[in-house]
Amino acid sequence: MIWPSDSIHLRRAAQQLSKGELLGVPTETVYGLAADAQNGEAVAKIYETKGRPHFNPLIVHVETIEAARQLAKVNEQAERLAAAFWPGPLTFVLPLLDTAPLASLVTAGLPTVALRSPAHEVSRALLRAFGRPFVAPSANRSGRISPTTADHVHEEFGGQLPVLDGGPCEIGLESTIIGLVGPAPVLLRLGSITSGEIEDVLGFPLSAPDNKVCAPGMMSSHYAPQNHLRLQADDVQGEEVLLGFGGTKGATLDLSPSGDLREAAVHLFAYLRELDKYNRPIAVASVPKTGLGLAINDRLTRAAAPRH
Ligand code: TXA
Ligand code: MG
Repeated sequence: MIWPSDSIHLRRAAQQLSKGELLGVPTETVYGLAADAQNGEAVAKIYETKGRPHFNPLIVHVETIEAARQLAKVNEQAERLAAAFWPGPLTFVLPLLDTAPLASLVTAGLPTVALRSPAHEVSRALLRAFGRPFVAPSANRSGRISPTTADHVHEEFGGQLPVLDGGPCEIGLESTIIGLVGPAPVLLRLGSITSGEIEDVLGFPLSAPDNKVCAPGMMSSHYAPQNHLRLQADDVQGEEVLLGFGGTKGATLDLSPSGDLREAAVHLFAYLRELDKYNRPIAVASVPKTGLGLAINDRLTRAAAPRH
């Protein structure tokens, strides 16, 4: 079921969460699969529904920084970054408070918690209607392409659960994750906010993302289509369909004919899904490795990685 995001359905959506049921929710990055963060059984349903092999920690979505302070030790760097980027596509990993009312499955037993305040009006309205935080990993089957429309979520789960329709996601890539638990901030996942933007606020350079970090968004095979993906393609080989960038000749779809990285991010997951329907190998033209292009290349590399 796809629900319009009117006040009746927002109330129904909040009730769905209160009952311990799951719900597809739009955010500005990708659609999430939401559950009550206090309800362990509801959180367990997320793992079951996504087919996630491990109990990996989830992102808790909060309306405000005050709500974040109830859950985690929000340090000075987090305060500054939140003032600059919240609500928005930036997630903090922070020390968990003993008093935080969260199911332990949310953090997979870790002493830290990931928090983000989404900017999308519908997710914010749901946070207000529900009155407490919800967890929301991307609403795709484990390892598969993240959803950027309500239809994608519907296709992914065969209509088993309601999805609030908030239109196509404005950004199309998951949030940037920054770890603020050690002596220095660490970039844990590349995302739509670039390290340069974060460094401008912090006033010092970030350490590079550490590929050894064990987080599902950092698993080598992730975001994968069903069909084989070949990167840095400048032509079509055999049966391939071609995902272009910046006006690639012969492209079946072009991420951004004008070479705009923001537009390319918005289209990335939707176009991979679209091309996957041809049931042919997919070739992808190269995308510049600068700014937002770093996060786009990160997702493409994982989508092309050998499967487990
Ligand atoms: O944009 C987004 O962040 C989307 C939307 C729906 O908000 N959500 C999302 O969630 O991408 P998910 O579950 O697909 O990715 C969460 C990432 C995982 O890589 C997880 O390992 C990491 O956050 N994570 C969560 N808690 C963590 C923690 N305590 N320490 C380190 N990594 C953590
Ligand atoms: Mg995901």
